Amino acid sequence: MKILTIVGARPQFIKAAVVSRAIAEYNSHCSLKKLIEEKIVHTGQHYDKNMSDVFFEEMRIPKPHYNLAIGSGTHAEQTGNMMIALEKVFLEEKPDMVLVYGDTNSTLAGSLTAVKIHIPVVHVEAGLRSFNRNMPEEINRILTDQISTLLLCPTDTAVENLKNEGIPNKHINCRVINCGDTMNDAAIFYGGLSTDKWLKDNKLQSNNYILATIHRAESTNTPERLSMLITALDNISREYYQVVWPMHPRTRAMINYNPELKKQIEESQIKIIEPIGYLEMVCAEKNCKIILTDSGGVQKEAFFHKKLCVTMRTETEWVELVQAGWNKIAGLEPENIIKCVKEMLSIDITKLSYPNLYGNGTAGKRIVEELVK
Ligand code: UD1
Ligand code: UDP
Repeated sequence: MKILTIVGARPQFIKAAVVSRAIAEYNSHCSLKKLIEEKIVHTGQHYDKNMSDVFFEEMRIPKPHYNLAIGSGTHAEQTGNMMIALEKVFLEEKPDMVLVYGDTNSTLAGSLTAVKIHIPVVHVEAGLRSFNRNMPEEINRILTDQISTLLLCPTDTAVENLKNEGIPNKHINCRVINCGDTMNDAAIFYGGLSTDKWLKDNKLQSNNYILATIHRAESTNTPERLSMLITALDNISREYYQVVWPMHPRTRAMINYNPELKKQIEESQIKIIEPIGYLEMVCAEKNCKIILTDSGGVQKEAFFHKKLCVTMRTETEWVELVQAGWNKIAGLEPENIIKCVKEMLSIDITKLSYPNLYGNGTAGKRIVEELVK
């Protein structure tokens, strides 16, 4: 069986690392006839060393067979260029299936290109919904789920979301399965490889800082919104704990482009650093007081490492975290973000229940079992 795995953006390297390891593990036990041949295709959506290479190196992901080097652009440019390049690879490689992850433009380009030339699509992290169609990710997910043959969900909520959209439909040959969350597997396996070096290098003390990340288009695309978030983080740094913010290049570009935002950052008490590798991020997450983020993956990692999270968005796909009390949706207003931080800092997490929401760290293995089926 031949599989092409399509990746392009940071969180996809992390999810694919888990499945590639599980494929290698499966291959080490199966007969020659049943081997899975996996080839990784990197679209090049993320290309800075600390947004791409660092993950392949640290997580020992097999080197991509193809790097399409598409880079940045408008949605149509980026997705269209990926599709043109991917089609050539698919026609050359003739895979039995194409594996896509999550909800980025690389996901949509991979799934749409494959399905049009009748290659079955497997969607890992199927069924997530924010119910906000202004998010490019929501469009990418809905469309990918509609055209996938195997929909591998991380949660029961995701399975339910698909059911509500009529998937699986008796007229369309597809299957929906909850395999658990690959990011849970990553937190367990790679979490075990992480050290405290990052903490020392950054002269930080455990439990004495708040970790923040911001990169979503809806947070960064208008200077007013980004300014509100900077105001919130600056106030939190002054009043509570220093905020440490590994800054995504999209956010950095917006700030560099706008002199007022640049000034606001320079005058703030926020500790801004470059994006960090996954093992450093795990260290940053494990040792922080709480987490402030608009990232999907980081919301879950807060929970995996038993940290409370304030989500600087108006909704989340990971609703079970909010229901369980581990996450608060704060929106973008500084006052509300600060209020949520204050509330979270007063919670004793030993009194919170810790439900099993994302599986047992065996999502990679379950996914491979489904691929083989
Ligand atoms: C993308 C995904 C988003 C995901 C995020 C993970 C889409 C529509 N969005 O958002 O769902 O949560 O990745 O991080 O696919 N840039 C660099 N260097 C890089 C990569 C990006 O400088 O290596 C800058 C460029 O200015 C670029 C901007 O970041 O224009 C945005 O990059 P892009 O890949 O379009 O979207 P992300 O915001 O990274
Ligand atoms: N991450 C990282 N370094 C950073 C910031 C994030 O390794 O500086 C990891 C983080 O641990 C998580 C993933 O990147 O596993 C989340 O990616 P991101 O926030 O870019 O995208 P999203 O999950 O929102 O799609």
